[in-house]
Amino acid sequence: MEDNPSPGPGWPLPRTAGILTNDDIVDILERLMLALDPFIRVDGLSVKIGGFAEELLILRVPQGFKREVVYASRVLDERGFAGRVLAGSGPLVIEDIASDIDSFPGYVRREGFRSLVGVPLLYRRRRVGMLCIFKRDTSHVPDTSIPVVSLVADVAATIVENSQLLARLEKNYFSTVEALAAAIEAKDPYTRGHSKRVTQYAITLAERLRVAADAIKDLQYGAMLHDIGKIGVRGQILNKRGRLTPEEYKIIKRHPIIGERIIDGVDFLEGAKPVIRSHHERFDGRGYPDGLRDEEIPMLARIVAVVDFYDALTSERPYRPAFSAEQAMLFVKEGIGGDFDPAVAAEFLKIVAAVPRPAEVPVEVGPGPGL
Ligand SMILES: [Fe+2]
Repeated sequence: MEDNPSPGPGWPLPRTAGILTNDDIVDILERLMLALDPFIRVDGLSVKIGGFAEELLILRVPQGFKREVVYASRVLDERGFAGRVLAGSGPLVIEDIASDIDSFPGYVRREGFRSLVGVPLLYRRRRVGMLCIFKRDTSHVPDTSIPVVSLVADVAATIVENSQLLARLEKNYFSTVEALAAAIEAKDPYTRGHSKRVTQYAITLAERLRVAADAIKDLQYGAMLHDIGKIGVRGQILNKRGRLTPEEYKIIKRHPIIGERIIDGVDFLEGAKPVIRSHHERFDGRGYPDGLRDEEIPMLARIVAVVDFYDALTSERPYRPAFSAEQAMLFVKEGIGGDFDPAVAAEFLKIVAAVPRPAEVPVEVGPGPGL
């Protein structure tokens, strides 16, 4: 079995090949193509990431291909070209594909390639993918160029492996964060799904506000864990049906500080701290725990503040039913300038006008499905 050249609905594309995005790897491929140029003519270059029976991610250098496509496929056995390369230990050179045309996926012919070199990507003897060099003629591949091709494949294998190791690490981080968020919600069943909904809205809002991409991960962790400090607040107070006494309210108001302490010393959550500590600050300075105002309040916390407020209102509580989206939006509007950053709240209102409540789907991080 060989590549399925069209993605189709059954082939969800992974967003990333590990920690590197597809664009990053295509960028690396372009450089590899240039590096190979003095040794072997390269008309097209692709990398497949994964092994037998895994969903492979196929990335191509756009200049080398007529159609710019990235798609997933599966190599099930050694009958086709990709299978033979994956099963081998060194470069496999096909000087004229006409000699065994059925072994090749349709796109090879459609792109006008006539010969190719496939190299398994081996990392400590483990197969992590394959590199393919395409040529539009049937010219002989000189033996002297093979060591260079192998060297380039080694570099590609290392990049792929490192990227996926980091992605696995990040996935573990996220699982830890999810477990912590579940612990908060177990204590207060009325907040079920709250952390994930807040996270989804917060990320959408941050992207619309053009928050720097590298802050999004901090926001994701911070939004998931914004109420982690409630773990340190007694259940009777959290789930109380009636009005809180001033003393009880004082205890609840400690949760941002308790939360910050809980994650203190956890390296990968350092960037989430400002969200946890400052998500109850108010734009006019009347919030807690520090009474920060305006831009003193970290941007990510200003985002979570408005999203948290809206989601809390549209969720049922032990002491009241859920407000409708329209009612909650009115409350947000009333809070502009007082409770909330006007620019942040205005953008958020546009989002909820379109999607009053996000679908109950898991928040995606790290590698996409199958990789
Ligand atoms: Fe909170």
